[in-house]
Amino acid sequence: MTILGIETSCDETAAAVVKIESDKNIELLSNIVATSLSLHAKTGGIIPEVAAREQVKFIIPVIEESLKVLKDPQREIDAIAVTVGPGLIGSLLVGVETAKAISYAWNKPIIPVNHLFGHIYANFIGENKIEFPAVALIVSGGHTDLVLIKNHGRIKWLGGTRDDAAGEAFDKTGRLLNLPYPAGPEIERLATGITKDVYNFPRPLISSDDYDFSFSGLKTAVLRETQKNEQLNTERISNICYSLSEAIFDVLIKKTLRAANEYNAKSILLGGGVAANQTLREKFQLSIINNQSPIKLFVPEKRLCTDNAAMIAAAAYFNNEETDWQKISANPELYFD
Ligand code: KG4
Ligand code: ZN
Repeated sequence: MTILGIETSCDETAAAVVKIESDKNIELLSNIVATSLSLHAKTGGIIPEVAAREQVKFIIPVIEESLKVLKDPQREIDAIAVTVGPGLIGSLLVGVETAKAISYAWNKPIIPVNHLFGHIYANFIGENKIEFPAVALIVSGGHTDLVLIKNHGRIKWLGGTRDDAAGEAFDKTGRLLNLPYPAGPEIERLATGITKDVYNFPRPLISSDDYDFSFSGLKTAVLRETQKNEQLNTERISNICYSLSEAIFDVLIKKTLRAANEYNAKSILLGGGVAANQTLREKFQLSIINNQSPIKLFVPEKRLCTDNAAMIAAAAYFNNEETDWQKISANPELYFD
């Protein structure tokens, strides 16, 4: 089955073509991403109206580019997958309306995909040996969610952030430190090479007996540091970036491993922009080894952690009404034996 994926939930305009043989083998034929990030860097964050207008400019060229890998796209494409939420409504509309138009013109089915479900399925692109049950941690700019996947479409929501998402914590503290938006990659760059946790920021909810997260207090901790009467030079900023990353990663790893143990998970899947962080990937792997756990860690290629349409096309194949994220998180027990 060959699927065209379209993703326009935020500031990326993305289209991709994947060929799905089975859940163990999803071939990525093309993966095109255009971003209006440089515009948002100037304003220190995304202005939804600006993002939506850029989507309109990019959407047709991006889709055309993604289809160049096929000789006869209209004949070869079996279905069109599109992100329907969560995201910025103006941006989402551009993708959804374009998908509807192609679906009508080519007489192909349209598959609505939840963006978070997409981040999970980035792990299935290429050849994989993922075994269920799996615990998935989605860490992006808007979400921090921990879910249990018993099988395709059988998802139990275990917990999520009560306030800021992990990526949001990076972006908001980045603003305090005058770093460019989005701050995650820059904080990673500055923290690289530092080995001492100078500031030892709090690890919120690390020992709570639920699977919730809370990261909003961290920006206050960083703010207090920046208000001290010491010069905010590169060395201090780098130390803050390192201590902040350590605090966030410690909580993410501890809670995910606890969930994996409690539910006898065979696999842990990471997804979302923060999962592109090399230190997080390595720390996760190291914790699993240190715990002498047989659980296998799966992390998508870095370009498939941040927003892309390949993950939406891959997720579409496994889509069913039981993967409606809003329903899943509102009724944790609903779709699970
Ligand atoms: O998944 P994503 O591309 O978009 C959303 O769905 O939100 O995630 C974007 C988030 C931003 O908050 C960004 O700062 C963060 O992912 N991010 C990172 C890294 N790359 C992106 N955070 C930490 N380290 C990184 N290398
Ligand atoms: Zn995302």
